[in-house]
Amino acid sequence: MNAAPLLDLDQVFAGYLPDLDIVQGVNLQVAAGELLTLLGPNGAGKSTLAKTLLGLVPVRSGSIRFRGQEISRLSSEAIVRLGIGYVPQVRNVFASLTVAENLEMGLFQIRPQHRPAAIARIYDLFPTLATRRSQRAGTLSGGERQLLAMGRALAAEPTLLVLDEPSAALSPLMVATVFEQIRAINNSGTTIILVEQNTRRALQLADRGCILESGRDRQTGPAAELLDDPLLGELYLGRSQES
Ligand SMILES: Nc1ncnc2c1ncn2[C@@H]1O[C@H](COP(=O)(O)OP(=O)(O)O)[C@@H](O)[C@H]1O
Ligand SMILES: [Mg+2]
Repeated sequence: MNAAPLLDLDQVFAGYLPDLDIVQGVNLQVAAGELLTLLGPNGAGKSTLAKTLLGLVPVRSGSIRFRGQEISRLSSEAIVRLGIGYVPQVRNVFASLTVAENLEMGLFQIRPQHRPAAIARIYDLFPTLATRRSQRAGTLSGGERQLLAMGRALAAEPTLLVLDEPSAALSPLMVATVFEQIRAINNSGTTIILVEQNTRRALQLADRGCILESGRDRQTGPAAELLDDPLLGELYLGRSQES
């Protein structure tokens, strides 16, 4: 990597309990503009690593630098303000609020006068949300809910967007739609970390992949190379998460 990476993890250890590290010494660099997919079997620590980036899981040791700034001790709110957006794996919309209200929740760090334009941009990106703006999020389909969660994170115009399994529980058609949107978001300049169980599709979409195993980065490389790597088959052997 020639230029300084946008995100730089150096020997990161993190976990929910004081003496139980789930993330066990992760090293990872993400370049500006890249789409990196974070892979690995169930329980490998992908979601925990995503939450660690967002300041939602305490970092025990190591460093996380975003645009050169150490963020591993910052609050989640401060990290979002610096330009990292996050779509969690579960409970990523407020079911009892409308689509419009959910989008407004993503705008706390945007100046009030800029909020209507930010919302309009999201409706341009995801027209289906515009037609449902007064509908409660709980009444949306799984795919629409995922678009809403992405829209809320994007409304704040993050430099880096972390998506945790956006394709989970979606129909194959919706998976294709969501993946197309992820590609479009990345093409428009947003750097993306995509956590996926849908390994092959994610590697077909991404520039690079990082395979996490037992909280460690087992292998990181160009997506095309990882697709051919026997390690993938080995890690997922006997698991029925490929499609
Ligand atoms: N809130 C939590 N408190 C304690 N342990 C957790 C919590 N969430 C996940 N874990 C544990 O962390 C490990 C990694 O889980 P997770 O990061 O969700 O993996 P993945 O997203 O790769 O499936 C698992 O052993 C899981 O039981
Ligand atoms: Mg997970």
